[in-house]
Amino acid sequence: MNPSSNMDEQRNTYFARLYHDSADPWQVRQRWYEERKRALLLACLPQQHYRNAYEPGCGNGELTAALAQRCERMLATDMSEQALQLAQRRLADAGLGDKVQFEHHRLPQDWPRPGLGIEKFDLIVISEIAYYLSSEELAQVAEQCVASLADGGSIVLCHWRAPFAQRMQSTACVHAAFQSIAGLHQLLRHEEADFLLGLWSGDARSVAQREGFA
Ligand SMILES: C[S@@+](CC[C@H](N)C(=O)[O-])C[C@H]1O[C@@H](n2cnc3c(N)ncnc32)[C@H](O)[C@@H]1O
Repeated sequence: MNPSSNMDEQRNTYFARLYHDSADPWQVRQRWYEERKRALLLACLPQQHYRNAYEPGCGNGELTAALAQRCERMLATDMSEQALQLAQRRLADAGLGDKVQFEHHRLPQDWPRPGLGIEKFDLIVISEIAYYLSSEELAQVAEQCVASLADGGSIVLCHWRAPFAQRMQSTACVHAAFQSIAGLHQLLRHEEADFLLGLWSGDARSVAQREGFA
């Protein structure tokens, strides 16, 4: 077995166990911490509405449900079949199921390539997933984000900062990987003791400039 398939196997087992034991392993549906973090992420988006968003590693769909209210349509993916089933049910219960297409994807290998009927995304949300990737995988994901981003679109990253056993790299390293990409401008950096939230766009204009009053 090569090292990367061994790593995939370990991740499969880890997430399968978590979702087997709980439909909400990180308590994103119960914790005020999570509700507030979602609200901050949504508040930092420079556009009111998005045409076509992508959320890889959508988990049980709690953030997907919040994002879907701001998007015409979304692609939500996860490497865990159990997570996808939970997310699908969550969106259906919220009456938003028609807006969201769910697919079983493992990053970075299954990232949807623009072309062949796949449009670029004007919003890509990488939330609490990138620290599970090796630095090589993360570099690939950063390139994939840029290749899939529609003109003027935004990439959002949001990650827990404390150490934990399954983390493959620090949150600081994850967000730094997007810092020096040519053509991407960081529009926002929100730093707290617990998490880091960042937003990059090919469009350097502020929200007021986009709205035409600055
Ligand atoms: C902590 S949850 C985050 C869920 C959601 N994005 C949020 O912020 O609430 C991480 C999710 O990423 C998925 N995941 C982890 N590594 C992945 C990979 N390499 N490819 C696809 N999904 C992955 C897991 O199955 C899990 O559902």
